[in-house]
Amino acid sequence: MCGIVGYIGKQQAYPILIKGLKRLEYRGYDSAGVALINDSSSLNVYKTKGRVKNLEEACAEKDTSGSVGIAHTRWATHGEPSAVNAHPHYSQSKNLAIIHNGIIENYSDLKSRLQEKGIEFRSDTDTEVIVQFIEYVQTRKNLDLLTAVSIVLHELIGAYAIAILDRRHPDTIIAARKQSPLVIGIGDDEFFLGSDASPIVEYTNRVVYLEDGNIAVIKRGEDLKIVDIHNIEMSPEVKTVDFNLGQIEKGGYAHFMLKEIFEQPDCLSNCMRGRINTECDRVTLNAVIDFKDRLVNAKRFIIVGCGTSWHAGLIGKQVIETLCRIPVEVEYASEFRYRNPVVGEGDVVIALSQSGETADTLAAVELAKSKGAFIYGICNAIGASIPRVTHTGSYIHVGPEIGVASTKAFTGQVTVLTMLALAVAKERKTITDEEYISIVKELNAIPDKMREVLKLNDTIANLSRLFTYAHNFLYLGRGFGYPVALEGALKLKEISYIHAEGYPAAEMKHGPIALIDSDMPVVVIAPRNAMYEKVLSNIQEVKARHGRVIALVSKGDESIRKCADVVIELPDTLECLEPLIYTIPLQMLAYHVAVCKGKDVDQPRNLAKSVTVE
Ligand code: G6P
Repeated sequence: MCGIVGYIGKQQAYPILIKGLKRLEYRGYDSAGVALINDSSSLNVYKTKGRVKNLEEACAEKDTSGSVGIAHTRWATHGEPSAVNAHPHYSQSKNLAIIHNGIIENYSDLKSRLQEKGIEFRSDTDTEVIVQFIEYVQTRKNLDLLTAVSIVLHELIGAYAIAILDRRHPDTIIAARKQSPLVIGIGDDEFFLGSDASPIVEYTNRVVYLEDGNIAVIKRGEDLKIVDIHNIEMSPEVKTVDFNLGQIEKGGYAHFMLKEIFEQPDCLSNCMRGRINTECDRVTLNAVIDFKDRLVNAKRFIIVGCGTSWHAGLIGKQVIETLCRIPVEVEYASEFRYRNPVVGEGDVVIALSQSGETADTLAAVELAKSKGAFIYGICNAIGASIPRVTHTGSYIHVGPEIGVASTKAFTGQVTVLTMLALAVAKERKTITDEEYISIVKELNAIPDKMREVLKLNDTIANLSRLFTYAHNFLYLGRGFGYPVALEGALKLKEISYIHAEGYPAAEMKHGPIALIDSDMPVVVIAPRNAMYEKVLSNIQEVKARHGRVIALVSKGDESIRKCADVVIELPDTLECLEPLIYTIPLQMLAYHVAVCKGKDVDQPRNLAKSVTVE
C-alpha cells in the first residue's frame, strides 16, 4: 500500500527519493510523486499515474534540484488513480506540500467546511484536506507550521502517516503518525524518512520508529525533535535495524517471489535457530517461558489475521487443538473487530501478520486488549505496529518479504505456530515424550525436505504451461490439506488473475462439483495420511466428470498415479507438518502460471503488500 520516502541533508534529494520509491514498489501502488525545494526556495511537485519509472520520465526535463524532498507511491482509496490524485498535494498557496498514508474518515465534513471558507480543491483525495486545513489554520491564526499541524491533527479522525514541506522553511520536514507506520533514519548531518526501513537501510541502520500520536520536526543541522500531540517534547528512542540491502534485492532471481520461494529452507532454519535445540530435541520460545501461566492456562486461543496469515491461522488451529487440547478459533480480523466478539480474560489472542501493520489486524488486537485478553503477536517486520502493542510474541525471522503474494512468511508463521503448540503442549502434558520428540526432530528436518521439493521447480514450470488456458481452478484438501488448498488457490488468483477456489475435498459434492468438466483443473492435496482413501474417492469423482486432476502425493504413490492427469511426488513427513511441504509446489505452480501468462508477479494489479487501510 502507499509508500513514503523523505530526505533532508547535504546530498541531492531526488536520486535518494526515487531509489527509495523503488524500494517501496513491492507494497503495491498505482501512481507516484515527488516534491522538492530548490535553492531558490521553489517548491516543485511532480506526479504521474503508473510506475516510478513513469515519474522519472516525467521528471527528466524538470528541475529536480534541492537537498530536501518528500516522495510517495499511492494506492488509491479516495479518488481514482491519476496524476491529479497522486501525492504530494499542494496547499492553496502552494507554499506547503504533503504526502500521506492512511485514510481520513471525516475528510468529507472537513472538506465542506473548508470549501465554505472559499478554499478550492484540486483533487478528490482525503489527503488534500489535511494540507488545505493546515494552511488555513496557519494563515488565519498566524501560527508556525508545527502548531498548525498539531491543531489540525486533533481534528482528524482516521489513520495517517504524513510528511510536510514548507517552501518558506527549506530546512525542515514535519512528519507525524497515527496508526500508519513512519520510520526516521538518522545519518551524518542528514535524515531519511520511510514508511518502512527499506528505503533507509542503505544509508544508515540507526532509526527511530515514530510512535502513535507523535510529531517529528526533522531539521537540517539539528537533533531530531519529537513532540506528542500536546506539544510535550519526547526523547527519541534510536534503534538499530539489522537487515541489509542483499535481503531486499533480487539476488539473481527473475522475481522477488521466486527468490522468496527458494529462500524458504534457510528462512525456516533462521526461524527455528535458538528455539529448537537439536541436542536435546526441545523447543524453547521465550514468550512461553516469560508468560507461561497465561499461555499454558489459556481458556481458548483466538487467532486473528487476514489473507495468507489467516490461512496460516487455520493450520495453527489444527496443530494447537491436536497437541494442546485447547479450543482455538480463527477469525478474519476485519470481521472480529466489528462484531462485538465475546472475548476477555483467560483468552489468548494470537495476531498473525507478516507486515505487522495490517489495519484490521491491528484494530482487532486493540479491541481484544481493551476487553482484557492476553495478546501474542506472530509477525515478521521487526518493530512494526502490531509487535509493539502486543503483550508478547515471537517474530518469524524470515527476512523482508517483498513479493506481494506471501510465501516465506506463510511457512514461517506455520513454523512458529507449531513451535508454540509444542512448547505449550509440553507444559500442559497433553503430548507424550515420544510424540514431542518426533515432531521436534521432524520440524528440524523440514528445511532439507523443502530443498528436495524445490528441485521440482523445472518440472512444475513445464506443467504450468499446460494450464494457462484455464479460467477456473479448484483446489481440494482435507484436514491439514484444506488450508493448504485455500492458500494454493489464493496464490494462483493473486498473481495470475485466474479464478481459483479452495475447498475441503468432501464439500465438493455440495456445490463445486457442478463446475467440473474437461476444462477444469482440480489440484488435490493427497498425502498418504489418515484421509488418503477418502481423498482418493474425491479424485475418482472428479475424473468421472472429466476434470483434469493435478495431484500432490507422497513419494511412491501408485494408486493416484493411475487416475490423476499429473502427479507431483513429495517427501513424507508427519501429518501436522505436511502444510510446510505441500504449500511449496502450489507456490511454484501459481508463480509459473503467472509468468507464462505474462503477469506482473511481484506487483499484481490492485493488490498491496501492506494493507494499512481497512
Ligand atoms: C495483503 C497481502 C497478503 C497478506 C495480507 C495480510 O492482502 O497482499 O499477502 O497475506 O495482506 O497481511 P499481513 O502483513 O497482515 O500478514
